Amino acid sequence: MTKNTAMRIIASQNGVRGIADAMRALKNGASALDAVEIGIRAIEADPSDHTVGYNGYPNIVGELELDASIMDGKTLNSGAVALMRGFPFAISVARQVMERKLPHVLLAGAGAERFAREIDAEAWDDMLTDEVREVWRRRLTASAATGAFPTLSDGSPLLDWVKLATDPERVEGTVNFIAVDGQGDIASGVSTSGWAWKYPGRIGDSPIIGAGNYADNRYGACACTGMGEMAINAGTARSLVLYLKLGMSLAEAAGEAMRDLRDLGSDYIGGMNLIALDRDGAHIGMSSETGRTYIYQQADMMEHEEVEREIVEIPARWG
Ligand code: GLY
Repeated sequence: MTKNTAMRIIASQNGVRGIADAMRALKNGASALDAVEIGIRAIEADPSDHTVGYNGYPNIVGELELDASIMDGKTLNSGAVALMRGFPFAISVARQVMERKLPHVLLAGAGAERFAREIDAEAWDDMLTDEVREVWRRRLTASAATGAFPTLSDGSPLLDWVKLATDPERVEGTVNFIAVDGQGDIASGVSTSGWAWKYPGRIGDSPIIGAGNYADNRYGACACTGMGEMAINAGTARSLVLYLKLGMSLAEAAGEAMRDLRDLGSDYIGGMNLIALDRDGAHIGMSSETGRTYIYQQADMMEHEEVEREIVEIPARWG
């Protein structure tokens, strides 16, 4: 197999704050995994992005639970964390799940937090600003079940509340990075705080390898944003890479992975977006919604370019 060693990065549009640092690192000899981690950390630290890392919108009881994964296309190794509280850089903890060679790929909840403490991952005491706490409080007290708000975290039933959960894509979030380094190795990463006001313990596609994230040097990589439940049910990221393996072009493979989502039988079908590249360096973005973009930079470009995503319609339904 001939490797395309032209360094390049693609990312979801909200990766703008991280792509320049990630490209600089690649040019200085960093690996694709390093570039993905550097790019995503910049978004995780950004308090203005309420769908990733620090200051993301919390779950329905006001706790911020983070999900992330990273995959090495050279080895097909991966690491992931889910439902992690108190550690803003979920992508770095996910990477350590992979690098420390645990016999596991995904740690969730208290176990992920314990692991993060054990490896001395950066911990922040307060993961939310007062402004975001106020958005959460107002959103929930404005709902029909107002009287129950003060007892939400004390074990009162949440089932009637969970339909208030908000798809992160309605606020254009979750971050994807895919990088190709000077060795031609591919890595992909995804990080999210998940749906705003989600049911505690809800895990989306971002930390699920094969659903929201997949990389394989031999064929290419794919990462998703959108309604994670859909990408989990269809195995979207892995499907796209498998379609490449079966000989489809990148556009055909991406289109087929998106069209697969139309067959899902769930009562809840929302938006889906993916970015992908193949081993020859071609890249693509697709979305079920109009006006969505992604960003792209290769080593000889002074700055990134914003590229329109192709649209594949997926009729939405909700309950
Ligand atoms: N795609 C991010 C999520 O559903 O949590």
